[in-house]
Amino acid sequence: MQGVTVVDHPLVQHKLTLMRKKDTSTRTFRQLLKEIGALLCYEVTRDLPLELIEIETPLATMQAPQLVGKKLVFAAILRSGMGMLEGMLDLAPAARVAHVGLYRDPVTLNCVEYYFKAPLDIAERTVIVIDPMLATGNTAIAAVDRLKEAGARSIRMACLLASPEGISKFQGHHPGVPLWTAAVDERLNDHGYILPGLGDAGDRMYGTR
Ligand code: URA
Repeated sequence: MQGVTVVDHPLVQHKLTLMRKKDTSTRTFRQLLKEIGALLCYEVTRDLPLELIEIETPLATMQAPQLVGKKLVFAAILRSGMGMLEGMLDLAPAARVAHVGLYRDPVTLNCVEYYFKAPLDIAERTVIVIDPMLATGNTAIAAVDRLKEAGARSIRMACLLASPEGISKFQGHHPGVPLWTAAVDERLNDHGYILPGLGDAGDRMYGTR
């Protein structure tokens, strides 16, 4: 699938299996989501550009690589994006954070924004949008729309699970936004949940079901 990277690293796959199990506790689910967040961050940032700078080691002068330009923005879609954010920040602590709060209007089914806060210099940074579940794709599409409106130009999407329907809709709206996921599941059910999936990520993370 063009534009989609499935992170098939054994550690990611093993942790994802534990998360899918219905008996996995809230505490373990949250811990695993954090750990997978860090592992996904490692893959999503694999091609970030480097430049050579001169440094002094205790023994010699050398040309050593460092990241070019301004650092990342992690844009967490509330609320379950917060679960992956923590692990990503462990790996890239200098990153800035944007929060995107969206809910689905029960009548119009449109995404309605209830919170948005992003760094002012977002246009100069690579933005990694974080949402564990790319299901219908509607939330991710609206979040990327909003981030673009705020000035974001270089955008990547990181999720834990994606549906084929969600990927296709997302790529239709945002063809220039590459996507990383730990797995592409079978399909959506009639309620917009991913099958076989792992249930409601936010509820499982926070024990709200
Ligand atoms: N959101 C979730 O948390 N789970 C799904 O399966 C779909 C959307």
